[in-house]
Amino acid sequence: MLALQQVFNNWDAVPLGWYLLGPSAAVRPGTVRPYVLCGQRIVVFRGEDARLRGLDAFCPHMGTDLAIGRVDGNQIRCFFHHWRFDGAGACTDIPCGEPIPARARTQSYDVREKYGFIWIWPDSHALSDVPGFPELDGVEVYAMAGRTMTRSCHPTVNMINGLDAQHLRTVHRIPLQMTLKTQEEADGRTIEFRMEADLPSATPLQRIVRAVLGPRYAYSMRYVDATVGLLRTLEDVRWFGRWPAEPTRMIFAYTPLAVGKGKVQPVYIARRPRRLLSRMAAWSRLALTAAGFLWLRDEDGKIYENIRFRPNALLNADAGIARFIHYVNRLTLSRWSSRGRPAPYGAPGVDAPGVDTPGVDTPGVDAPGVDAPGVDAPA
Ligand code: FES
Ligand SMILES: [Fe+2]
Repeated sequence: MLALQQVFNNWDAVPLGWYLLGPSAAVRPGTVRPYVLCGQRIVVFRGEDARLRGLDAFCPHMGTDLAIGRVDGNQIRCFFHHWRFDGAGACTDIPCGEPIPARARTQSYDVREKYGFIWIWPDSHALSDVPGFPELDGVEVYAMAGRTMTRSCHPTVNMINGLDAQHLRTVHRIPLQMTLKTQEEADGRTIEFRMEADLPSATPLQRIVRAVLGPRYAYSMRYVDATVGLLRTLEDVRWFGRWPAEPTRMIFAYTPLAVGKGKVQPVYIARRPRRLLSRMAAWSRLALTAAGFLWLRDEDGKIYENIRFRPNALLNADAGIARFIHYVNRLTLSRWSSRGRPAPYGAPGVDAPGVDTPGVDTPGVDAPGVDAPGVDAPA
């Protein structure tokens, strides 16, 4: 089962992709803030031009944490000897008067804002923008942040939840016999799973549900770089069997923080209609999606809190999961991946939950479990 390059469920392998750091509002103009993710410590600062920049946290001079430095215009100055760095990581000033050594530079990161959140790409230039729903490109949207979830399993393990159809029956008691369709894009970065079912009509309640939603139900989950999941529900639904429903949409951003600690940030997305009445309808749909998700989330949470994932006995019904593992293992790794051969499943320290890694709980670091405020964001 082990692939040559094992990325799935491997804390040492960090694919290129967009990782969510925290709410945009947490970094005000003229301030700097540290984040810990994927075993890295990063600083993000907002210059006087309101733009964000991201750098490795430790000063290339003697390693002082730049988070205790200060923002100077659109650059940052180290607290210790006041070296100044621009957003590209180059040293632009050494106050003691000596010439700037060629090695006085640090790693910079592409940092962007979308849906009211700050995202980081584990290198200086991202291959593409933060993922979104293609059909909403150029459309004004509402984005509403759900509560951040922390999990002790690896985020790629958490992602199988979106494509495990069996647990809808066993965990959530939803009597749907779903069929799976998988589509991988040629870029090797994106995989989409679509689950479809006929709605049952065996009991009076099922007949009511079928009368309201129509005969079909489908949902799809689209994973990009194994860091972002784009979920569409209420697909194929026709209200009272006639009027096609607009799907409800959620984005899940998965961030490995440190070995044994991951974070999932849900964001509810909806078109932002012009008319007041439609706007209220859009908001009620968001609220409904949020309520439905809360119910499912608590049931799923029990599983991912203490899972030791080993895909040793997968069934035909788990084909989507096997396909997903294969997709993850072929992703391109970033500079945040440790060198050397990845450790196998179950090796000490690889999937051990609850491991305390220094730096994660440092005061001032974006705290897991913080509820990000609801935000209005352009698409
Ligand atoms: S350690 Fe940063 S300037 Fe000396
Ligand atoms: Fe679930």
